[in-house]
Amino acid sequence: MKVADIRQKFLHFFESKGHTIVPSSSLVPGNDPTLLFTNSGMVQFKDVFTGKETRPYSRATTSQRCLRAGGKHNDLENVGYTARHHTFFEMLGNFSFGDYFKQDAIRYGWELLTTVYGLPAEKLWVTVYQEDDEAYDIWLKEIGVPAERIIRIGDNKGARYASDNFWQMADTGPCGPCSEIFYDHGPDVWGGPPGSPEEDGDRYIEVWNLVFMQFERDQQGNMTPLPRPCVDTGMGLERIAAVLQHVHSNYEIDLFQNLIKAAARETGTSDLTNNSLKVIADHIRACSFMIVDGVIPGNVGRGYVLRRIIRRALRHGHQLGKTTPFFHQLVTDLVEQMGEAYPELAKSAEHVASVIRQEEVRFQETLVNGMRILNDELAALGKDGVLDGQTAFRLYDTFGFPFDLTADVCRERGFGVDQAGYDQAMAHQKAQAKASGKFKMAANLQYEGAQTRFEGYEHLQTSATIQALYVDGTLVDAVQEGQDAIVVLDTTPFYAESGGQVGDSGTLTGFGSAFDVVDTQKIQANVFGHHGAVSLGSLKVGDQVQALVDTDRRQATMRNHSATHLLHKALKQVLGEHVQQRGSLVDPDKTRFDFSHGAPVTATQIRDVEAIVNNEVLANNAVAARVMAFDDAVADGAMALFGEKYGDTVRVLDIGFSRELCGGTHVARTGDIGLFKIVSEGGVGEGVRRVEAITGHNAFGWVQNLNASVQQAAAILKTSPADLVERTRLQQEQLRAAEKEMDRIKAKLAAASSADLSSQAVQVKGTQLLALVVPNADPKSLRGLIDNLKNTLKSGIVLLATESDGKVSVAAGVTQDLTGKVKAGDLVSHVSAQIGGKGGGRPDMAMGGGTDTAALPGAVAGVQEWVESRL
Ligand code: ALA
Repeated sequence: MKVADIRQKFLHFFESKGHTIVPSSSLVPGNDPTLLFTNSGMVQFKDVFTGKETRPYSRATTSQRCLRAGGKHNDLENVGYTARHHTFFEMLGNFSFGDYFKQDAIRYGWELLTTVYGLPAEKLWVTVYQEDDEAYDIWLKEIGVPAERIIRIGDNKGARYASDNFWQMADTGPCGPCSEIFYDHGPDVWGGPPGSPEEDGDRYIEVWNLVFMQFERDQQGNMTPLPRPCVDTGMGLERIAAVLQHVHSNYEIDLFQNLIKAAARETGTSDLTNNSLKVIADHIRACSFMIVDGVIPGNVGRGYVLRRIIRRALRHGHQLGKTTPFFHQLVTDLVEQMGEAYPELAKSAEHVASVIRQEEVRFQETLVNGMRILNDELAALGKDGVLDGQTAFRLYDTFGFPFDLTADVCRERGFGVDQAGYDQAMAHQKAQAKASGKFKMAANLQYEGAQTRFEGYEHLQTSATIQALYVDGTLVDAVQEGQDAIVVLDTTPFYAESGGQVGDSGTLTGFGSAFDVVDTQKIQANVFGHHGAVSLGSLKVGDQVQALVDTDRRQATMRNHSATHLLHKALKQVLGEHVQQRGSLVDPDKTRFDFSHGAPVTATQIRDVEAIVNNEVLANNAVAARVMAFDDAVADGAMALFGEKYGDTVRVLDIGFSRELCGGTHVARTGDIGLFKIVSEGGVGEGVRRVEAITGHNAFGWVQNLNASVQQAAAILKTSPADLVERTRLQQEQLRAAEKEMDRIKAKLAAASSADLSSQAVQVKGTQLLALVVPNADPKSLRGLIDNLKNTLKSGIVLLATESDGKVSVAAGVTQDLTGKVKAGDLVSHVSAQIGGKGGGRPDMAMGGGTDTAALPGAVAGVQEWVESRL
């Protein structure tokens, strides 16, 4: 049974038992900032288990893409060395949200394995959690598994609930006791049943884990019962495939064999059992899906995990002798294997390959250099040595060698590596970097008063009291006319720069005083500083002022900010779900939006994005802002940004079809944005594109300018704007035709003048010689002229020179019958030498020149004598 069939059969079996088939969620968990990657099928349902979220179904089944390469579950280092470890794998699962519990979970599991997959019952063993008599009895009495094949496993890992039969996603979250099903590969394979001292052998392999979700664990380790007990099961697709395909290693199943063959093809390896091929086959899956899900290679967080995996694959390629980019070529093979089950992969294939390729090119050189150093260091170590931490750190710092890559190489060659020394070197460097870092001045202002109340969502003018004044970073009581200062108010309508939106400007006016605010910046998380200068009178702490935001500027900024949300969503629709915000700047002039995408956005895609955004604008829907718990917001589908820190409560903005977490200021209805127009697109780094767009008055002005240019161009071409393109094309054609005609006339003229010139030929020992200075000739036409003269003379020697811009060009031609005696190249060299230059060419045609114009007449006059001496 092929992998694809096994997946299908699983989903359809559970569908027939009333389960809804739910698509795999992203590898980047949308609902959990604490989890680096989706590590099991239950992750997308986490909040459904705890009751925070509800779904229209109470039974679900999935084939979930999972990654265990960082965080609580990390298998990266084992990949390639064992039969069953992967970074990326697929988990088949069935879920009950307060619907069925242990009894049905066990029955379904048994039925699928023994009936649908046809596994012999006597080959199956099961485990239950020590205290779980209920599950034990179901297996024994209802299913009929003999007692000797049901094993109770207790807290075998040293703490309460630390057990192979107690499952938890992470240190916090839903968890519960579980029951695992094992397959016995038979006495030919070494190993013992679960719980026995030989359990780590390959004979008894866990294929399915049925978790009876009962608790939610909090940070302190408290276990709160879930509102209703649930079921979460997980079966590694690759493992069950190995069982059903009668092979012992996951890497022998059809899907992996095909990827391994592809890796062998790309690296030119003939031994298909080489472990490096397994590593590459595993890693292309992990890397491709990470990129599909919006991760880009980088130096922190998920990006760094991706970079490490790519580099590990390249290092194994290098080991197979492959020193040029190859890894990205495997994307096509992966799409063949998995594209049907995961259409998002097929759709993003080009993007994925180009991101990997860029990373390959970038790392290739450092890999070669770093490996050389590592090899030298290891050669000097002697048998069983340990590589020092300082060297491991230098490899990381200078050559970008992730520590696990160095450790990997060491392990392969039988060396150790000093991790503690490495950690120390890393800590040392971090401390140094921190010490030399500078903080923004504004953040250092000393302030102990009340926080600023921000009223700028509702209105742009308010009366306020001055809380504090700063001049040159120092707290003062009063500021005078002409002085630059920072003002803190108790309440303000001024937005302080954050989330990419610039700070407001405007005025503060008191009795006989005024302060021009040019910018607003936070001096503490919730304390705003109004930067500017006193333009009239003086201000002192305790004064009442009217705070008035520059309304036009703020409104222009709001239009751009609201448009940014629509743009983000539209880019995802047009380019794919991998599009993630990488940075943004919103000011009154424009929105500048950086996002992950591997290729230039085409003109058509830009038009599509513009059309989508403008449609949303014209729908003129009201914008809604709600403040709610972070978890609820994300469950509601709000786009949270990677790497952004959010508080427990967040502001959710619904603008047209977009829903994002955002603290910025926005228009009241989408129609307020006015016309939306993208004005530029370009790359700003690896896999990151930038678009700039304008709205409202700016877009209107842009259109007017464009129109004015078009009008002018049309007027010049004496046509209407509507016919401008056609007219321009026509003009181009006419111009080309005119140029051709001109060439033809020139040639004709040259022929005529050559006839003219040929009459000036002299006879030298019975040979015709023509040596002339041609006034005002185009140097480029000399060659053609010579050809013509040779034709006219039939037999003869021609030398022509012409002068332009203080330079002399010389050309000579000799008809074929005479080249035995006189060579054009020699003749040109001879003449050029006399005018301070050089020349040369073939015996029948040669070119040259010089700069000594005064010597030209003499040089040409001397040609006759030179020729005569040769005939
Ligand atoms: N969540 C369970 C596991 O990953 C099913 O094993």
